[in-house]
Amino acid sequence: MVLLLHGPNLNLLGERDPSTYGTATLDDLVAATGAAAAEAGLALEHLQANAEADLVAAIHGARHRCAAIVVNAGALTHYAWSLHDALASYDGVKIELHLSNPAAREPWRHVSVLAPVVDGTIAGFKADGYPLAIGAVERLLDRRRTAGP
Ligand code: DQA
Repeated sequence: MVLLLHGPNLNLLGERDPSTYGTATLDDLVAATGAAAAEAGLALEHLQANAEADLVAAIHGARHRCAAIVVNAGALTHYAWSLHDALASYDGVKIELHLSNPAAREPWRHVSVLAPVVDGTIAGFKADGYPLAIGAVERLLDRRRTAGP
């Protein structure tokens, strides 16, 4: 099972600043990610929450249950240490994902408090980032399987 998590304001995708985030709606992105996951033989679960506490609870719920988390935490990426700590306590594969490239935007977006506790980050490819994230999950899970104990 792969858990796809979206943070605040991402429920507005499609209407929100399409030149930055693209025109795909959240439903479109979840469907495309689910299809990519199914092709890789993985099931997908999704949660979008505007509240930090709900995202922390979802990460706790993924412990010992989901093989991977793909997270686009929205603006929480830049300051939510509770998400950092929750992800640090989750030992599956972790991918940070952004539609835009935060490093090319306002200075306050240049810091990610999640980056130190994830396997890697995919940013700037708009909707294409979602299947790329599933590809990364697949490779990292394979690598873990073949690494042995
Ligand atoms: C975002 C980038 C964040 O800086 C922003 O606050 C978002 C979306 C992205 O997907 O590009 O809400 O995570």
